[in-house]
Amino acid sequence: MKPPILKLENVNTHIGPYHILHGVNFEVPEGGLTMLLGRNGAGKTTSLRTIMGLWTASQGKVIFEGHDITELSTPEIARLGIAYVPENMGVFTELTVRENMVLAARDAKIDSSRLDWIFTYMPALKKFWEQQAGLLSGGQKQMLSIARAMIEPRKLLLVDEPSKGLAPAIIQNLVEAFKALKQTGTTVLLVEQNFNFAKNVGDTVAVMDNGKVVHRGTMAGLAEDEALQTKLLGLSLDSHQ
Ligand SMILES: Nc1ncnc2c1ncn2[C@@H]1O[C@H](COP(=O)(O)OP(=O)(O)OP(=O)(O)O)[C@@H](O)[C@H]1O
Ligand SMILES: [Mg+2]
Repeated sequence: MKPPILKLENVNTHIGPYHILHGVNFEVPEGGLTMLLGRNGAGKTTSLRTIMGLWTASQGKVIFEGHDITELSTPEIARLGIAYVPENMGVFTELTVRENMVLAARDAKIDSSRLDWIFTYMPALKKFWEQQAGLLSGGQKQMLSIARAMIEPRKLLLVDEPSKGLAPAIIQNLVEAFKALKQTGTTVLLVEQNFNFAKNVGDTVAVMDNGKVVHRGTMAGLAEDEALQTKLLGLSLDSHQ
């Protein structure tokens, strides 16, 4: 078996005086899609930000491809091939969709076949290509932020709640986009509240609670075990619709 591409070992993160992560441990297998689940405030976003160097762990290690990246800066981490799509999207609203994409591409050069591939999953971006990104709907902005992370090949993509506020048909497009990304060999670590989405794309899962990982396993295993879902996530049957 391949070694994991990313490993968090006893990661503790403080934000100012607050101790937020209390020894986070999990691994992300290479080439797969790992879900990071947990209730509101569990520490999912803080974990992604710590991996990306936006917070620095006060204790413990973040290991990427066997190298300790705990103390690296965000640009250094990005250069290793890790990209982050934050919850609040990171789209430049004053710029057009095209300009947003150009800025995300290496040397400001867009690979046109890769762009066509993205357009198949996100047709709205093609339609609004020369429009100001601020005019896009919330869901379309979300698509744009994900497209920006997809325009260059990356080794690892960290994505925070991509389906938030999206209509079911658009979520289906996203599911297809993530499946297609997986086929390119990109490893994805995905935070998601929509359990159906998680079930559809996830290979492995880590569940957080109170700043710690409280469960690790396969996504299929968690999807089959409703008692465990209720225990870990407080899901009711309604969330399976
Ligand atoms: N900048 C900050 N300053 C102080 N506390 C923070 C800050 N950011 C997050 N926290 C706290 O850290 C804890 C974990 O927050 P985090 O955003 O990582 O949770 P989350 O699992 O992503 O939740 P959600 O599902 O609501 O997005 C919460 O209690 C939150 O209030
Ligand atoms: Mg969050």
